[in-house]
Amino acid sequence: MKTTTNSLLLSAQAGKYAVPAFNVHNLEIAKAVLEVAEELQSPVLLAATPGTIKYMGEEFLIGIMEAARKKYTIPFEVHLDHHENVSDIKSLIDMGVGSVMIDASHYPFEENVSIVTEVVQYAHKKGVVVEAELGRLSGIEDDMSVDEKDAIYTNPREALEFVERTGIDSLAVAIGTAHGLYKGEPKLDLERLQEIRAVVDIPLVLHGASGLPEALVQETIGMGITKVNVATELKNAFVADLRKYLIENPDANDPRKYFADAIDSLKKVARDKIFMCKSLQKA
Ligand code: 13P
Ligand code: ZN
Ligand code: NA
Repeated sequence: MKTTTNSLLLSAQAGKYAVPAFNVHNLEIAKAVLEVAEELQSPVLLAATPGTIKYMGEEFLIGIMEAARKKYTIPFEVHLDHHENVSDIKSLIDMGVGSVMIDASHYPFEENVSIVTEVVQYAHKKGVVVEAELGRLSGIEDDMSVDEKDAIYTNPREALEFVERTGIDSLAVAIGTAHGLYKGEPKLDLERLQEIRAVVDIPLVLHGASGLPEALVQETIGMGITKVNVATELKNAFVADLRKYLIENPDANDPRKYFADAIDSLKKVARDKIFMCKSLQKA
């Protein structure tokens, strides 16, 4: 039995919408994302990078997830985002994480296949689903920084072989997408996405959604994208209002007050992205 993430993504694939995956960093942000998803009755993934696990502590992240299961009715899952360390992934699976990304996309093809296969074999035995990436996004995500010249677009032919040999449940594609905001107007290679979709039938994942126009993301959803990752726009919204509040209230010292506007602002972005993904009322 696969966990909910697989059924979430397969339902999204069948219904031509996408499940939003929001990167969270602390209790406030995880709660904000869950509250918005609950309000809109959208499935949601709470994405945690290795940096987030280190910052929050895995016990606390898992504790929040377990508490949230009691409080919210929507389907959600904690999802490991861009994890590279196989033994860390295994121990997080053992602790109860049901959805993981192994990112070995910086290795040559054969090495990527063998690292991902090891994770898939471990994860599937425990009913955990696995996302992997072929190709490489440019931009900055947490501690990971990739120069534009080092970005690689996903090759459709390789994608087919990669999916068949590894047995992954979803595939992250690089189609001109970038982590962080885009320099100039973003240009996605939609033809390539169609070529990948034509040969690969598992759910496809769009990383780097911050900075992409809504219509363009919806076009990719129409072409088989079933999970959309958003990090930077949430962080930017949060910090802009936090900064404004602290400048306007230089004596503020109560986190329950100085986080309030920041949380509202982040929620607004999360709401917009759920509409963009067309995942509302799909819980
Ligand atoms: P953005 O920061 O561009 O939204 O990318 C998020 C992402 O891909 C997380 O894995
Ligand atoms: Zn990403
Ligand atoms: Na982006």
